[in-house]
Amino acid sequence: MTDRPTQISIAPMMDWTDSHCRVLHRLLTRRALLYTEMVTADAVLRGDRARLLGFDASEHPVALQLGGSEPAKLAEAARIGADFGYDQINLNVGCPSDRVQAGRFGACLMKEPGLVAECVSAMARAVRVPVTVKCRLGVDDQDPQTALRELIVQCAAVGIDQFAVHARKAWLEGLSPKENRDIPPLDYELVYRVKGENPRLVITLNGGIQTLDAAHEHLAHVDGVMLGRTAYQTPAILADIDARFFGGARGDLDNAVAAYCDYVARKLAEGVRLNAMTKHMLGLFNGRPGARQFRRHLSENATREGAGIKVLREALAFLQRDPVEA
Ligand SMILES: Cc1cc2nc3c(=O)[nH]c(=O)nc-3n(C[C@H](O)[C@H](O)[C@H](O)COP(=O)(O)O)c2cc1C
Repeated sequence: MTDRPTQISIAPMMDWTDSHCRVLHRLLTRRALLYTEMVTADAVLRGDRARLLGFDASEHPVALQLGGSEPAKLAEAARIGADFGYDQINLNVGCPSDRVQAGRFGACLMKEPGLVAECVSAMARAVRVPVTVKCRLGVDDQDPQTALRELIVQCAAVGIDQFAVHARKAWLEGLSPKENRDIPPLDYELVYRVKGENPRLVITLNGGIQTLDAAHEHLAHVDGVMLGRTAYQTPAILADIDARFFGGARGDLDNAVAAYCDYVARKLAEGVRLNAMTKHMLGLFNGRPGARQFRRHLSENATREGAGIKVLREALAFLQRDPVEA
């Protein structure tokens, strides 16, 4: 057990944890820390900042995840993110895609702990909010025992004290990003040991955590757990986080959905397409009668040109209409 406050977070997931998704997740849990998708420092510096960084005030606490490997650019991007109001700036040292490797950032930075330390040091000097690192155990033929410790020790030496560790290596050659989330074996024990060796650091464990019971067990060894695919694919489990880990009230799925419908109606009026918001709801009622028709109705209709709130209301009606079908 550790003496740090428990942290439960929802992992950064490209194309998934956009602002609409985070609004939905926040309606289900007040306490979990939410992460943006990764945004590269170059995009922040050169791109449409309102589109890339804008978020809803309800999302707090929310962390911005940056990708990059140039300290000055990352520092400037972090400063811009902090000015937008993000509560934490996180550096991606875990993503294995080719595009990311070509830019020399993401998981391949596990091989350059000194450079990562320079990056996060520059970022931390640029902002007042915490700067954190999300990493792997190592890449390719690195020995995870040394690669993970080296990265953490060098970052800790420049004052970084929070790490989220996806507890498997990444294979940069030969595996797709998707395969890299399942094939290299998980090693939770190594993360537990590194936490034990560094009691002062806040260590969050990520990778393959599928239930809140499993999360609870990990919390005997680390300060936090980060949920990725499970949170996105079955978001209803988020409704139990506050009561289970923070002594708060249990989230109410129906109230959350009603509030999300109001949000969707507001955003439709601003010109956002229905499917951009309802796609995050597809797994919401898994296991509940009518869930399949709910999903099918949204999948078939929410992408149509001009689809409005009526489509969502029709989909929701399936959940009451047929109490037998699941
Ligand atoms: C669709 C998708 C997109 C992802 N995008 C990112 C990303 O932008 N940044 C990042 O650090 N990790 C990304 N990841 C990895 C997750 O944050 C997480 O580390 C991984 O899914 C393992 O956790 P899980 O087993 O709980 O899903 C992504 C994962 C998925 C499924």
